[in-house]
Amino acid sequence: MPWPHRLQCFDCHTQYPAQTTNYRCEKCGGLLEVTFRISRRKVPWTKRRLSVWRYRELLPVDNDRFITTIAEGGTGLHHCLRLGRELGLKRLYVKNEGENPTGSFKDRGMTLALSKARELGKRKVVCASTGNTAASLAAYSARAGLTCIVIVPEGKVAAGKMLQVMIHGARIFQVRGDFDEAMRAVVTLTEHRKAFYLMNSLNPFRLEGQKTLAYEVCDQLDGEVPDALVLPVGNGGNISAIWKGFGEYNMLGITKTRPRMIGVQAEGAAPIANAVKHKQERIQPVTNPRTIASAIRIGSPVNWSKVLPAINESRGTAETVSDREILRAQRDLASKEGIFVEPASAASVAGLRKCRDTGRIDRSDIVVCVATGHGLKDPSVANYLLHRESYTLKTNHPDWIERLESTL
Ligand code: F0G
Repeated sequence: MPWPHRLQCFDCHTQYPAQTTNYRCEKCGGLLEVTFRISRRKVPWTKRRLSVWRYRELLPVDNDRFITTIAEGGTGLHHCLRLGRELGLKRLYVKNEGENPTGSFKDRGMTLALSKARELGKRKVVCASTGNTAASLAAYSARAGLTCIVIVPEGKVAAGKMLQVMIHGARIFQVRGDFDEAMRAVVTLTEHRKAFYLMNSLNPFRLEGQKTLAYEVCDQLDGEVPDALVLPVGNGGNISAIWKGFGEYNMLGITKTRPRMIGVQAEGAAPIANAVKHKQERIQPVTNPRTIASAIRIGSPVNWSKVLPAINESRGTAETVSDREILRAQRDLASKEGIFVEPASAASVAGLRKCRDTGRIDRSDIVVCVATGHGLKDPSVANYLLHRESYTLKTNHPDWIERLESTL
């Protein structure tokens, strides 16, 4: 059983019962969040296996009967010695969320939200997506036997993710335009048809699953807290969820500090980083967002009002990176650490390099980069690499072995 909890408006703090299906405050339209009654206490999970459901008491599903799981979480926290040395960091870690069942961090949120959807009696679930949310929702819906509807920007989702959505049997609808258009469609649909349950990060229950990344990182570091957590930001659900997780561990007395949260966006899709840079209290949406990192090609992030306080309260920052920097970071991680991530995830490492250059991260800092999704999801990157990375081997040439050796 979870500990006592309610839903609360992030802006005006109006409270709602935990079984509420709305995702916005009825009074002010603010975003909702789940709040647990937390006090310092001995936690019961230390002997349980590392996973999302290890933290059962802090996960707002009342009845175990509804839990839908495919073994999410428990991902590796990899100490990156080679890349760390290059960036002048002794303790650089990558939390590799590509190790989740559908290959991204979304599974942490989806196991929670899908379980909650079942508990709330929902049979049809829907999301807008740049790919990963859709892939994850499709898999969990398949397992639970729910009808899954995904709305995606036409022609802008990486092939591996589309394959996942199709093979898991979701109904796919493509909209002309970008992710923001798909998101608007989902919001309108769920407003008009209450039977369709919204599974994007506006859904506060999903974020409860994603916050477990913070708990895991602290547990994997034996109670130490990173000085900085660096991660890519699209809609801003993940950074807000993880910040909440660090806050809860702090309130429980398990940890003494919280990390600086450093959000990284692509230059062509950086409404949050721009607002942070100019110290603005609101974001300015970006029309026609562009970047090779299609997962975070988002101009109007729905969770912006949670993200800005997370960055500011943590005394963190936001950084922008170019597509070239993203591709370089992707290759760095793969070729120096054996960790293959998709372009959006590599943005975190590209952002870290910039923060090292500008001195915003210190050589003695404990840094965790969140690698949000697996590299195999987006094979389009091969088009940028193949002509540089391969040679033609003429095996009928007498010196072909020497020629091969000469390239090493
Ligand atoms: N990294 C990856 C690989 C993602 O797929 C996403 C978001 C993010 C980072 C950003 O996370 O939105 O919580 O700030 N992907 C969503 C999707 C939008 O539809 O799959 P965020």
